[in-house]
Amino acid sequence: MLNFIITETYSAMSILAANRVAAALINKPDLVMAMPTGGTPVGMLAEMSRMAKEGEADFTKTFSFNIDEYIPLAKDDPQSYYSFLQHHFYQHAHIPTENTFVPDVQAADLTAECIRYEQIIVDHGDFDITILGIGHDGHIGFNEPHATHSSVCHLIDLKTETIEANTRFFASKDDVPKQAITLGMGTILRSKEIVLIANGVSKAAVMKQLYDCTRIDPLFPASFLLLHPNVTVIGDREAASLFNL
Ligand code: PGA
Repeated sequence: MLNFIITETYSAMSILAANRVAAALINKPDLVMAMPTGGTPVGMLAEMSRMAKEGEADFTKTFSFNIDEYIPLAKDDPQSYYSFLQHHFYQHAHIPTENTFVPDVQAADLTAECIRYEQIIVDHGDFDITILGIGHDGHIGFNEPHATHSSVCHLIDLKTETIEANTRFFASKDDVPKQAITLGMGTILRSKEIVLIANGVSKAAVMKQLYDCTRIDPLFPASFLLLHPNVTVIGDREAASLFNL
């Protein structure tokens, strides 16, 4: 079973997750991180930015990788996931731009780009820490439920449910990209440490599914985390409202 920690509030969840990154950073100033995007990590990234500003953590030697990116949003498109991390984290933590990585989703050959991105991660010795959100359908990164999974970085068609969930960040559903490049299951599982965060009542059903999960199910992608020896799931009380802990 996975290691679950439940906090009373979203703020406490965010601080706890940020503290896990800060703890890893103490042991390795050139920490290699895979960073999530979306609604869940905003508080954690704010806390990491605060730590950087107040001198409690030094991110200036770290390396940070986007877990996924929408096709075909340019790096500087305000809706891109790279812009999200730039806005919520990089600019505050003063991570050198050359230490921040994202798949080039405008590359002419996207399959070659996936291979290139995977290789950059390998060349950095894989991730020391990966912070994940979780989709309502159990996706991690953008590894959507499918009969089969790619272990390395790959192109993915987003499920209708994911497009609908992400419509809140766009003017309309039609504006939400339908494809993305995501880290593969293997890329994530090679990380030395994994922290999954979830908050809010809308994540209660998927968190219960994760809590009850005892075997790998490709139609419930987060179940692959059972293969990893160092996963911590941090949820707030609302996300944990359908099980007892
Ligand atoms: P969210 O997305 O943080 O916006 O809920 C989570 C995810 O899809 O991984």
